[in-house]
Amino acid sequence: MNPSSFPAADRYAVIGHPVAHSKSPDIHAAFARQTGQILTYEKLLAPLDDFAGSVRALIAAGGRGANVTVPFKLDAFALATTLSDRARAAGAVNTLRFDAAGVFGDNTDGAGLVTDIVVNAGVALRGSRILLLGAGGAARGVILPLLSGQPAQLVIANRSSDKAIALAAQFAPHGAIVAQDFAALDGQFDIVINATAASLADALPPIAGSLFGAHTLAYDMMYGAQPTIFLRFAVQHGARVRDGLGMLVEQAAESFLLWRGVRPETAAVLAGLRAALAS
Ligand code: ATR
Repeated sequence: MNPSSFPAADRYAVIGHPVAHSKSPDIHAAFARQTGQILTYEKLLAPLDDFAGSVRALIAAGGRGANVTVPFKLDAFALATTLSDRARAAGAVNTLRFDAAGVFGDNTDGAGLVTDIVVNAGVALRGSRILLLGAGGAARGVILPLLSGQPAQLVIANRSSDKAIALAAQFAPHGAIVAQDFAALDGQFDIVINATAASLADALPPIAGSLFGAHTLAYDMMYGAQPTIFLRFAVQHGARVRDGLGMLVEQAAESFLLWRGVRPETAAVLAGLRAALAS
């Protein structure tokens, strides 16, 4: 058989430093199998001082797109020649698409979070009271998609309160967002999202258990084999909990849609990752 009769596989990668731990190649391979798309997806370890060189090399080798992870999301934002509105609002890019027009930068993290909360966890954003903990890159990336869901109020609290105040001011034209000090938080919330890096250090943001109730969804953007300290605290105070594994899969599905024009089913992929994490 003539090998040239087979279409060449389109090439994608996740670029990070470190990147060895990334689950993205497994997720995208599963999406490609499920949707019958012919592509390859690899891990690319970029030097800390030459993200742009790695992107150029990928494009030269026939790359069609990339996911971008720590610590390059700001570099990807700077490198993109065109940006989506949500990437501009996030100030960071986690998805690049390469085509004749140049390098398109998008950010699918916030959409991934919202899909995981609304579709997978079945919790509505409209009319809800949401608390967002943290004001770094992870928090900033999800504010616009959360506000698009029209919550009654989005409260943002951060250890360095000036950062929360600045974000609330920036996003105020897009919805009901206010900044509050941790100590000033009161009443129960429908959704509490931990977008701080505290779980990485097994630390808990200084929040009261009274913020949670039986109707509260506590969401940690981090995930692991065991629940984070934040999720354990929330459970103790009666909340439903969810970690960031679903967000990871849903942001990948959104990237896949951008690249391939088809939205993959995520439930089986998420269940497979969860089982692998537990084993
Ligand atoms: P990322 O891209 O993951 O958001 P980042 O931009 O460095 O990383 O932001 C880290 C966030 O976690 C910040 O909101 C940080 O609070 P400060 O702005 O006050 O530094 C928050 N954070 C990190 N460790 C924390 C802890 N132990 N308790 C509370 N907040 C913490």
